Amino acid sequence: MSELQHVVTIDGPSGVGKSTISRRIAAGIGFTYLDTGAMYRGVALFLEQHGVDLAEEIAVRQALAGIEMRLLPAAGEDQDVGVVINGEDVSGLIRTPEMGMLASKVSALVPVREKLTEMQREIGQVGRIVAEGRDTGTVVYPKAFCKFYLDAAPEVRARRRILQLREQGTEMDEQELLAMIIKRDRDDQQRTIAPLKQAEDAVLVDTGPLDIDGVCEVMFKILRRKLAQDL
Ligand code: DC
Repeated sequence: MSELQHVVTIDGPSGVGKSTISRRIAAGIGFTYLDTGAMYRGVALFLEQHGVDLAEEIAVRQALAGIEMRLLPAAGEDQDVGVVINGEDVSGLIRTPEMGMLASKVSALVPVREKLTEMQREIGQVGRIVAEGRDTGTVVYPKAFCKFYLDAAPEVRARRRILQLREQGTEMDEQELLAMIIKRDRDDQQRTIAPLKQAEDAVLVDTGPLDIDGVCEVMFKILRRKLAQDL
C-alpha cells in the first residue's frame, strides 16, 4: 500500500454525524482520527481573538504565520478532539454553533485553506488516518484509498444537533439552528475554493434512515473489503 492508501476520507455537511462516525471508524480499524473542522474552528477563533480583518488578505496571512496549532486526541468515543493554539488549550471555545459559522466564513479564505491543507497533507504523510471534513476526499487527499460522503436532510440534522446540544446542557431554538445549517450548507457548497461536494469516487451514505450503528456497519463492510483487497 502507498502512504496515501492509508488515508480514509469522510466528508459531508454539518450535523450529519461525521464526527461520531469518523471516531468510531478510526477506532475500529486502528487508524488515527483527524478532525479537519477542528482546525478551521481553531483558526476562526484565533483570527477573531486577534481582531484580524478578514477582508485583508495580507493581514490574514501575517496572522496565520504566527499560529502554532496542535490537536489533542479525543478523550473518548463521544468526546471531541481538542485544539491547542500557541500553547493555549482552546478546546472549550470552538464547539459552539457560532464558531461553526465563523469557521465556515474563514474557511473560504485562500490563505486559510492553503495553510490548513498543507498541514493536513503533512499529517497524512504519516498514514493510517481517518480524515473528516468537507474537502478531504476532493482536495486534501484525492488519492485516498477509501472515500465516503455522508448526507442527510437539513431537518434531520437540525433535530439531531438539538438533542446533542441538550445532552451537553445547551438549549437552542430548532428553527434558528435549521436556518444556520441551511446557510452553512449553502456557504460551504458555493465557495469557489474547495467547496463541499462528493468526490466522484466517494461512496454516498444517507445517514437519515440509519442510526450511528447502522451507518458504521455499512462503512465497515466496505472498508474491510477494500482493506482485504489491498493486503
Ligand atoms: O465540521 P465542522 O462543523 O467542525 O466544520 C466547521 C467549518 O469548517 C465548516 O462549516 C466548513 C469548514 N471546514 C472546511 O471548510 N473544510 C474542512 N475540511 C472542514 C471544515
